[in-house]
This record gives sequence, C-alpha cells and structure tokens, in this order.
Amino acid sequence: MTERDKSMTPKATGRLLLLLVVVLFSGATVVAQEPPATQPPAQETPAEPPATQEEATAEQPAMSCGDCHDQARDFLHNPHARGNVENGVVSNGACETCHGDGTAHMEGGGDKAQITVPRGREGADGTCLMCHDTTTHKKSPRSGVHANSSAVNCLSCHSIHKSENRPALLAKETEALCATCHSTQVAAFRGKPFAHRLGRGGMSCVSCHEPHGRAGRENIRTVASGEIACASCHREKHGPFVFEHGAVSAGDCSSCHEPHGSTNAHQLKRATVAQLCLECHSPTQMATAGSQPPSFHNISNPRFQNCTTCHVAVHGSNRSPQLLK
Ligand code: HEC
Ligand code: HEC
Ligand code: HEC
Ligand code: HEC
Ligand code: HEC
Ligand code: HEC
Ligand code: HEC
Ligand code: HEC
Ligand code: HEC
Ligand code: HEC
Repeated sequence: MTERDKSMTPKATGRLLLLLVVVLFSGATVVAQEPPATQPPAQETPAEPPATQEEATAEQPAMSCGDCHDQARDFLHNPHARGNVENGVVSNGACETCHGDGTAHMEGGGDKAQITVPRGREGADGTCLMCHDTTTHKKSPRSGVHANSSAVNCLSCHSIHKSENRPALLAKETEALCATCHSTQVAAFRGKPFAHRLGRGGMSCVSCHEPHGRAGRENIRTVASGEIACASCHREKHGPFVFEHGAVSAGDCSSCHEPHGSTNAHQLKRATVAQLCLECHSPTQMATAGSQPPSFHNISNPRFQNCTTCHVAVHGSNRSPQLLK
C-alpha cells in the first residue's frame, strides 16, 4: 500500500478513486500522487485528451489491483502470473483466482471486508487444492505426512508473496523451514561427527525426502529403479552388481547407515563393523537375516573382527560371491 491509499476513507472517496484511475490512465501521474483534497470535485471531468478518456472508459474494469498493491508488480515473475500478463502488467484475473472477485473491494476503495485471503487449513484446502491436487504413488496433498491441518499446511511452507525468489515459493530456506518443526533431525546433521554436510553439493532435506509424500518409506525419494535416493549421488555403491550384497537388495542403504548422521565412522549404525555384520550374520543362530559365517571365522579373534578387511566389496561385487574383492 502507498501512503496515498492509507490516507483515504473508502466512503468519501469511492468516486474520487474512479477519477484517480482515469487520471492515472491518462499518464498524469503527478496529479494522481497529490492528496485527494487537491483534486477537482468528482463531477467535474478534468480536461484530458479525449482519446485517452475513451480508452479508459471503454476498458472494464478500469481499476487494476496494481493501482493500489505493490504485490502486483512483484507478481510478474510468480509462476501464478503465467498467461496472465498483458503489456507488462499482471491482470486482475491472476489475483482473483486466489482472492476471489475483487470488484466490490475496488468499488469500496479497498474495503477489506469485500476480499478474501486464503489462510490456514481452510485457505489451503479451498484455494491451493483447486489446482494442486495431483496424487501419485509417492505424493498426496490429502493424505501425505504434511497433509493440510491447522498445524501444518501449504501455507506453513509456501509463501505466495514473500518467498524472496527462493525456489518453489518457499517461505524460508529449506533447512530453516524443516527446522521449525524437526529440530532434532537438523541438529543431527550439524552435531554428529559423521554426517552429510547440508548445503554442500546440493544436499538438503529434500534430497532424500518428498515433502508432499505419504507416511513411512513413501516420503523417501527414490531413483528411477525404485531404490532409495542415496544412489543418485553414490551410484558406484548401488550397482547393479553380479553379486549383490543381500543386505543391499533386501533392505537398503539405511540398513547399515544412519541417514541423518552418526557418531560412528562412515555414518554406520553400529559402533564397530563386526557388530553391524553380526546382527544379520549370526554365527550362533540358525535363523538369521543373512548367512552364517563359516566356522573358520573365529569371531573372538581380533583378526576376524574387522570384517571389511577381507570382505572389501561390502556394497556388492562383480567378481566374488563372498564379496572378497
Ligand atoms: C496463488 C494464490 C495467490 C495469488 C494468485 C495471489 N495471492 Fe495475494 N495472497 C495469497 C495468500 C495465501 C495470502 C496470505 C498471506 C500469505 O500467506 O502469504 C495473500 C495475501 C495478500 C495480501 C495481503 C497482504 C498480507 O501479507 O496479508 C494482498 C494485499 C494480496 N495478497 C494481494 C494480491 C494481489 C494484488 C495479487 C495479484 C497480483 C495476488 N495477491 C495474487 C495468495 C495469492
Ligand atoms: C483503490 C485501491 C485498491 C484497489 C484497486 C485494490 N485494493 Fe486491495 N486493498 C486496498 C486497501 C486500502 C486495503 C486495506 C489495506 C489495509 O488495511 O492494510 C486492501 C486490502 C487488500 C487485501 C488484504 C485484505 C485483508 O484482509 O488483509 C487483499 C487480499 C487485497 N486488497 C486484494 C486486492 C485485489 C486482488 C485487488 C484487485 C482485484 C485489489 N485488492 C484492488 C485497496 C485496493
Ligand atoms: C488457479 C490455479 C492455481 C491455484 C489456485 C494455485 N496454484 Fe500454485 N501453481 C499453479 C500453476 C499453473 C503453477 C505453475 C506450474 C508450472 O509452471 O509447472 C503453480 C506453481 C506453484 C508452485 C511452484 C512454484 C515453482 O517455482 O515451481 C507452488 C509452490 C505453488 N504453486 C503453490 C501454491 C499454493 C501454496 C497455493 C495456494 C495458496 C496455490 N499454489 C494456488 C496454479 C495454481
Ligand atoms: C512441510 C513443508 C511443505 C508443505 C506443508 C507443502 N510443501 Fe510444497 N514444497 C515444499 C518443498 C520443500 C518444496 C521444494 C521441493 C524440492 O525442492 O524438490 C515444495 C515444492 C512444491 C511445488 C513445486 C513442484 C513440486 O511438486 O515439487 C508445488 C506445486 C507445491 N510444493 C505445492 C504445495 C501445495 C499445494 C501444498 C499444500 C497441499 C504444499 N506444497 C505443502 C514443502 C512443502
Ligand atoms: C509446520 C511444521 C512442519 C514443517 C515446517 C515440516 N514438517 Fe515434517 N512433519 C510435521 C508433522 C506434524 C509431521 C507428522 C507427525 C509426525 O509423524 O511426526 C511431519 C512428518 C514428517 C516426516 C515423516 C515422519 C515419519 O515418521 O514418517 C518427514 C520425513 C518429514 N516430516 C520431513 C520434513 C521435511 C524434510 C521438512 C522440510 C521440507 C518438514 N518435514 C517440514 C510438521 C512439519
Ligand atoms: C541422506 C538422505 C536423508 C537426508 C538428507 C535427510 N533424511 Fe530424513 N530420513 C531419511 C531416511 C532414509 C529416513 C527413514 C529412517 C530410517 O529408515 O532409519 C528418514 C527419516 C526422517 C524422519 C522420520 C523420523 C526419524 O528421524 O526417523 C524425519 C522427521 C526426517 N527424516 C526429517 C528430515 C529432515 C528435517 C532433514 C533435513 C535436516 C532430513 N530428514 C534429511 C533420509 C534422509
Ligand atoms: C545429494 C547427494 C547425496 C545424497 C542423496 C547422498 N549422499 Fe552420501 N555423500 C555425499 C557427499 C558429497 C559425500 C561426501 C561428504 C560430504 O561432503 O558430506 C557423502 C558422504 C557419504 C558417506 C561418508 C563417506 C565416508 O568416507 O565416511 C556415507 C556413508 C554416505 N554418504 C552414505 C549415504 C547414504 C546411505 C545416503 C542415502 C540415505 C546418501 N549418502 C545420500 C552426497 C550424497
Ligand atoms: C551391509 C551393510 C551396508 C549397506 C547395506 C550399505 N553400506 Fe555403505 N558401508 C558399509 C560399511 C561397513 C562401510 C565402511 C567400509 C569400510 O569399513 O571400509 C561403508 C562405507 C560406505 C561409504 C564410504 C566409504 C567409501 O567406500 O566410499 C559410502 C559412501 C557408502 N557406504 C554408501 C552406501 C550406499 C549409498 C549404500 C546403499 C546403496 C550403502 N552404503 C549400503 C556398509 C553398508
Ligand atoms: C541387514 C542385514 C545384513 C547386514 C547388516 C549385513 N549383511 Fe551380509 N548378507 C545379508 C544377506 C540377506 C545376505 C544374502 C544371504 C544369502 O543369500 O543367504 C548377505 C550376504 C553376505 C555375504 C555373501 C555370502 C553369502 O552368504 O551369500 C557376505 C560375505 C556378507 N553378507 C558379509 C557381510 C559383512 C562383512 C557385513 C558387515 C559389513 C554384512 N554382511 C552385513 C544381510 C546382511
Ligand atoms: C581374514 C579374512 C576374513 C575376515 C576378517 C572375515 N571373513 Fe568372512 N570370509 C572370508 C573368506 C575367505 C570367506 C569365503 C570362505 C569360502 O569360500 O568358503 C568368507 C565367507 C564369509 C561368509 C559367507 C559364508 C557363505 O555361506 O558363503 C560370511 C557370511 C562371512 N564371511 C561373514 C563375515 C563376517 C560377519 C565377518 C566379520 C565378523 C567376516 N566374515 C570376517 C574371510 C574373512
């Protein structure tokens, strides 16, 4: 809003505003910026070149949201303005998809009671979902983890007018955004000695998570083959290999690694490699997730405890079924 608009009361100035717009259209901006008191009475038409006046009266509605709102100028590059820009100006229709018909609002000189603003869960359900209700195998705006509720909804994460040119109209930078509700996970990345560095190489919470995803594993992004997102950056760990490690094909990277960072080297889930391996390859239990190590493995012997000194191809091998090379 400009100072001029704030100083006016809707009742007294309805007709004056109409006039102002006519003046604006004629290009006499100097006059238009003066306080309303100095304007000629509304019934007196100012001496203007007739051609311009005809233009202004012929075009209905003559008023534009941008006459009074800076939001319109800033909106030129908003994806919601696409197809609604005429002569470098955002048309009222672009605004009205979310704010409703603005005619009464404008005729009332900017009457707040005559315009709607999408807010909270109702605003998100009633406005954003009109156009963004695409549901896929991974995503659902209605039953995803962040489905609209009063606590979290489209407008908690997206800001139509104040995204400061961030991608996807985000209300804040990604990490800061997620941290408002998930401080533990963000703190893990920052505090754990072995963790990915957020911000480096494009790494962010949404490298692995689909923010509009469904609960459980469904919100974890996958690569084309359906594997967990890790493979998009660590392709060499992913294969395909002639001899897959059962853990990689049966589970995924997060069966052995802590995705949010770990106190253990290589972001491993367990403090020692042996602990990790023996959880699935129990030398004592017949029923184990993996096979039993052969009997020559004397687990109490320190030589055997660092399994990966021999089983170097722990992520899979093209040469050794025992993952030895
Ligand atoms: C895609 C939906 C959408 C479109 C299109 C849209 N707005 Fe908004 N507008 C909103 C939402 C949502 C809010 C509430 C504040 C927020 O969450 O950012 C808002 C708030 C406002 C406000 C109140 C200021 C505030 O921060 O509370 C004004 C004024 C406004 N919009 C003007 C416009 C104008 C002018 C246009 C066209 C150039 C427009 N809007 C287009 C969604 C939209
Ligand atoms: C004649 C000037 C004028 C025009 C034209 C105008 N508005 Fe407004 N608008 C105002 C004023 C004045 C306010 C109240 C501002 C305040 O109190 O902070 C306002 C407030 C708003 C609000 C916020 C309402 C709220 O509850 O906070 C929205 C949204 C809005 N206008 C949208 C629009 C849209 C969309 C258009 C175009 C269809 C439009 N305006 C055209 C003057 C105008
Ligand atoms: C009238 C239909 C419509 C409405 C209502 C609508 N959008 Fe959009 N939205 C679009 C279109 C069209 C695009 C552009 C899509 C594209 O270019 O791929 C878009 C793009 C977006 C984007 C992506 C921006 C980017 O840079 O990629 C976000 C985020 C978004 N909308 C959020 C919202 C939110 C939040 C609301 C509710 C306040 C909303 N939209 C209401 C039609 C709509
Ligand atoms: C928890 C925060 C959060 C909520 C809630 C949220 N979004 Fe998003 N949205 C994001 C993030 C983060 C991105 C950017 C994703 C990326 O960079 O890959 C995004 C991207 C988008 C995009 C761009 C295209 C795409 O799908 O990635 C659209 C459109 C969108 N959101 C619409 C919506 C709508 C509509 C709602 C409400 C139903 C909504 N979002 C709720 C965080 C959220
Ligand atoms: C406004 C608060 C809010 C914001 C911002 C937010 N979340 Fe959430 N998130 C929630 C709530 C509430 C749940 C569902 C409750 C739960 O299961 O913990 C949830 C659930 C999740 C889950 C699923 C948890 C599970 O147990 O399956 C993931 C993953 C997640 N959010 C990631 C993100 C990411 C990534 C971002 C940033 C793009 C983000 N969230 C931003 C509130 C938020
Ligand atoms: C490297 C991939 C990756 C990144 C980056 C990542 N996550 Fe996760 N996140 C996962 C995986 C995988 C799970 C599933 C947990 C599991 O299986 O151990 C998960 C689970 C979650 C959960 C469910 C509760 C929990 O802790 O298990 C939340 C909430 C969550 N992530 C939020 C975030 C936030 C916020 C960020 C950004 C600071 C983030 N994640 C970054 C991969 C990632
Ligand atoms: C966006 C790209 C990206 C994604 C997605 C990603 N990583 Fe990484 N990862 C990296 C980079 C880059 C490094 C190097 C260390 C750093 O700068 O953070 C790294 C380092 C690691 C390391 C430590 C290497 C060492 O020598 O200690 C492990 C383990 C790891 N990633 C596992 C994973 C797992 C598991 C996932 C999925 C849950 C994953 N990464 C997803 C980029 C990625
Ligand atoms: C069976 C357990 C297991 C699985 C599953 C697993 N890893 Fe590992 N990973 C390890 C171990 C153990 C190490 C440490 C290797 C060592 O001690 O030399 C490691 C090391 C790493 C390293 C850092 C060292 C290096 O060689 O660059 C990266 C990166 C990595 N893993 C990524 C992944 C990715 C991506 C996946 C999923 C495709 C994955 N891991 C699945 C056990 C596993
Ligand atoms: C999450 C469970 C899991 C973890 C942890 C795990 N493995 Fe496995 N591993 C398997 C499964 C399942 C197979 C396939 C077993 C089969 O085909 O009978 C396998 C296969 C193997 C094989 C190939 C021989 C065979 O029986 O096919 C070797 C060698 C092996 N694992 C070593 C290791 C080592 C070393 C570690 C620790 C770095 C480890 N594993 C961690 C589940 C696991
Ligand atoms: C000194 C080297 C060495 C170390 C250390 C070692 N292994 Fe092995 N492991 C082997 C060799 C060699 C074979 C293949 C034996 C064969 O061909 O019959 C093997 C085979 C295996 C097999 C496959 C059994 C099968 O049915 O094919 C498993 C499982 C296994 N080791 C697990 C482990 C685990 C878990 C550790 C760490 C606690 C470990 N190994 C440490 C050398 C080692």
